[in-house]
Amino acid sequence: MSASEAKGDNATPVPGRTGVLGFLADATSEETTRTALATVLGGDFELRRGSVRDAVRHLERGPSPLLLIVDITGIDHYAAALEALALVCAPDVKVLVVGDRNDAGIYRTLVRDLGVDEYLYKPLNLETVVRVLRPMLGKDRPETRGPRGGKVVAVVGARGGVGASTIVTELGRHLAGKAHHHTVMLDLNLQSSEIALMLGLQADAGLRAAFEKPDRLDTLFLERTALRVADRLDLLAAEETVDAELRADPDAPDDLIDLLRQRYNLVIVDVPAFPTPLHLRFLALANVRIVVLEPTLSGCRGLLRYRALAAGKAETRPPIYVLNKQGLPGGLSSRDLQKALDLEPECVLPFLPKTVVQAANAGRSVAERSTPFRRGIERLAHEIAAGTGSVRPKRLGGGLFGRLRLTRAIGG
Ligand SMILES: Nc1ncnc2c1ncn2[C@@H]1O[C@H](COP(=O)(O)OP(=O)(O)O)[C@@H](O)[C@H]1O
Ligand SMILES: [Mg+2]
Repeated sequence: MSASEAKGDNATPVPGRTGVLGFLADATSEETTRTALATVLGGDFELRRGSVRDAVRHLERGPSPLLLIVDITGIDHYAAALEALALVCAPDVKVLVVGDRNDAGIYRTLVRDLGVDEYLYKPLNLETVVRVLRPMLGKDRPETRGPRGGKVVAVVGARGGVGASTIVTELGRHLAGKAHHHTVMLDLNLQSSEIALMLGLQADAGLRAAFEKPDRLDTLFLERTALRVADRLDLLAAEETVDAELRADPDAPDDLIDLLRQRYNLVIVDVPAFPTPLHLRFLALANVRIVVLEPTLSGCRGLLRYRALAAGKAETRPPIYVLNKQGLPGGLSSRDLQKALDLEPECVLPFLPKTVVQAANAGRSVAERSTPFRRGIERLAHEIAAGTGSVRPKRLGGGLFGRLRLTRAIGG
């Protein structure tokens, strides 16, 4: 949700989110900022003594505010600190940086390269702070920024049953729980979500409505429809009657992804193994594609179909191939696989039939119960991050929490 939506016209408070959170290094700056915020906003702000580093530590645990103020005074590697901040902060957060240097170079780096919204140098002047804060809090003009934010990862099985949904769930838990990213899993198996079932959650028809009437997609829709799995981990899924017929609007994938990217650092899409044109659109929108296979001949054949698929415009690296169920009884050996595929999967996950069932029954992740499996998931999270450094996202103007997200490592 953008600040203007939250604080502007209807001034609806966002549950669990402070309007403004600030970390300022000295008492004078803190006092000036406090007076400015009281003038523009009245209440709903919290100021603490500290720096951008304290902001990172705080946001690793707590909810993101709508507007964040951080002090970089005395921080040598402020760009690195701001990158660390971007990784633990919701992508829609606006950022005002305060420092002690009046230097056009710093301003350019922060605003143009790092996508920070504003930079102010000390000593802070009350009038200036008010003037800068007003539009940031949606008090002056409507929100004009375009969509921005999170990275889209599409996971698809080379054929049904290879473990794609399991991997989406494990990856979601890892990225949210261990790496503190705001993560959503989008299950495109609209008839009946395997992920909801695995997690013991009850999906409804809300997501279907989103596909049929994407013009109704907004943050309220997200709040009503997203199922909370754990801290920082949501699920968008559907459960349908068997005879339900979906009349999806062709704009739906783009609109839905735009909305999710604004709200989450990572959007993990579970794409059915035999995709329809609608599903293919999600593959085309993904920044990273993950293709899952198992050590069988039909698994290999399925994978070849995906290798032949044209690269997406938003892709920041070649697809990642995951071999799941390694050691499956009667399955192909590593050598046979190599011969059949002529590629080395980036990530290998062992066949663990008992552990998978036990973990599901206990409501825990497989990664918690098996070290080799956990290493595989960690590797996968790392691979999602790798190779993104050199490619610029297609849509710029994304702000700190848009551009960094696409150009920096996100692995946990
Ligand atoms: N590494 C694994 N070892 C053993 N069983 C697995 C493994 N990964 C997935 N499974 C099991 O395989 C079945 C299919 O998994 P699922 O994630 O639903 O596949 P898909 O989404 O590709 O159809 C499930 O019963 C799941 O528990
Ligand atoms: Mg599945």
